[in-house]
Amino acid sequence: MRTASAPISVLFVCLGNICRSPTAHGVFAKLVADRGYQQAIIVDSAGTGDWHLGHAPDQRTTQVAAAKGYDLSGLRARLVSAEDFAEFDYIIAMDKANLKDLRAMQPDHYSGHVGLFLDFSGQSERTEVPDPYYGEEDGFELVFDLVEDASAGLLQHIEASHPEVQQR
Ligand code: 4NP
Repeated sequence: MRTASAPISVLFVCLGNICRSPTAHGVFAKLVADRGYQQAIIVDSAGTGDWHLGHAPDQRTTQVAAAKGYDLSGLRARLVSAEDFAEFDYIIAMDKANLKDLRAMQPDHYSGHVGLFLDFSGQSERTEVPDPYYGEEDGFELVFDLVEDASAGLLQHIEASHPEVQQR
């Protein structure tokens, strides 16, 4: 159970934790830092699949992010776990399959928010961040653009629902 003085914590979840959720992790963390909220909002990412545990993000992901000024090279893939529901106030899925897996793990008493990232997006065309792994380079650009847009929306939502973040 969170207290009013505890930081708000946000976990981004995708399948491999090497493309979409690390992008969200890096972009949202920079947004948080740029607003001076580093003490107030904690950011992490994880995957539902275990193929890439301990690996850095996919090179195509790090390259697209680097071109936009984000360094994702220090991130390492990990699995989402039941303990994450005790740690995180927001557990944010990139697609509906991730969300289904999270719902299956979610304890009955979890009082945080589990939902789709693009619910916080300003665009309404897409509801999911598409898995770019087996696709072309432009899929990684699309992921980045969707993530940037939804990150701004998520931060606005957190500022509105937890105004105390602005006072830390
Ligand atoms: P992500 O992309 O879920 O955005 O990290 C994927 C990465 C790896 C695999 C699938 C999706 N894979 O099958 O290994």
